[in-house]
Amino acid sequence: MLIEVEMEAACPAFGGSNHEEIGHAAADHGSGESYLRLRDPRTSPTPDSATQGCSVRAVNGASRDHFVPTDEIDAQIARFPSWHYEFDLRGHRAPKDGLGANRNRQEQRARYVFEPLRRAFGGSLSGKRVLDLGCNAGYFALGAVSLGCDFVLGLDARQFHVEQANFVFAAKEIERSRYRFKAQDVDDIDIGSEGPFEIVLCLGLLYHVSDPAGLVERIARINPQVLVVDTTLLPLPGSVLQLRREQPDDPRFAAREQFVAIPTRRAVESIAEAAGYSVAALAPRFSDYQAAEDYRAGRRRAFFCTKEPRLLESVEEHVEDTSAARTAWTSARWGLHLAGEALRARTPRRPGLTGQPGTEARSRSSISPTSWRP
Ligand SMILES: C[S@@+](CC[C@H](N)C(=O)[O-])C[C@H]1O[C@@H](n2cnc3c(N)ncnc32)[C@H](O)[C@@H]1O
Repeated sequence: MLIEVEMEAACPAFGGSNHEEIGHAAADHGSGESYLRLRDPRTSPTPDSATQGCSVRAVNGASRDHFVPTDEIDAQIARFPSWHYEFDLRGHRAPKDGLGANRNRQEQRARYVFEPLRRAFGGSLSGKRVLDLGCNAGYFALGAVSLGCDFVLGLDARQFHVEQANFVFAAKEIERSRYRFKAQDVDDIDIGSEGPFEIVLCLGLLYHVSDPAGLVERIARINPQVLVVDTTLLPLPGSVLQLRREQPDDPRFAAREQFVAIPTRRAVESIAEAAGYSVAALAPRFSDYQAAEDYRAGRRRAFFCTKEPRLLESVEEHVEDTSAARTAWTSARWGLHLAGEALRARTPRRPGLTGQPGTEARSRSSISPTSWRP
């Protein structure tokens, strides 16, 4: 079956402006199941993960049944109560009024995650199957597809996100055989039945589950190559998990009320190492930290975890310098902060100030990681 692929670029990642066509690729895979394997004719593509204006679509030979007609796109965008990412869906913006500063956050995160992957696999994810856990509207799954992966499976506990991701992929006119989104709580399933997946993305999810070690262990069973974990961190030294009770009222959070565990940096490393991975924290060299202060402050990191240590060497330039001096400084700074909070909490309240918020409550909230955004 001949499948022709058209690539357009309007995203900053491709350096394009307005739907400039940048190339074609065609492949004859014979009969049976065919996959689109995209080859970017440019030398250094950054994935469509930044997705703004990028379109990766099958234009010939592929089933179009699931594609969304242009005149229905706006109405479908409006159908969803919230959007955590900004998408350009064939010239229609989702969400309609944009995301403001958060758009920068998501674009920076996408580059942060996909650049090392691109580097590790020689410029393309061709030949790889990708599992995106907690996929939300499919933003990172789309990044994987635009980097050329064969197939992506996205799981999210919320049906509404699965519908959103399906809509985004259909509006982007992506060939149906390249993806599947499924409503599934990662705590409930044996992901092994779907594997193997050479690449697993566990982004913005680890701190929304109650048993992060169990989750990583289960991922490791079906993941022979690379796992990327992007997570909020508890800024303490040592291998520590902080339990918090999470409510499902925010669609980015756990899908049911439960305890969730916030890991320290060392805890993430210990968990991944115990599951058989070599691990390195990635340096967030964002060009703009607007709406991404948690990355600048070290309260959030992505970790490149691999079963093939040679792949770590290939991403060396993305790896964070975690020299002892730096770690000691972070711990000392945090220790000082905690000491200050403890002192403030012990200071007796002056009479007449009883209507003010309790110092105890203030100190407790201030030692929690401050950002819970994806
Ligand atoms: C903070 S968002 C992160 C989304 C995206 N991966 C990212 O990094 O931007 C967390 C997502 O995980 C989903 N989620 C939370 N708990 C989950 C679970 N136990 N199983 C599957 N999905 C879950 C939420 O519905 C939400 O879409």
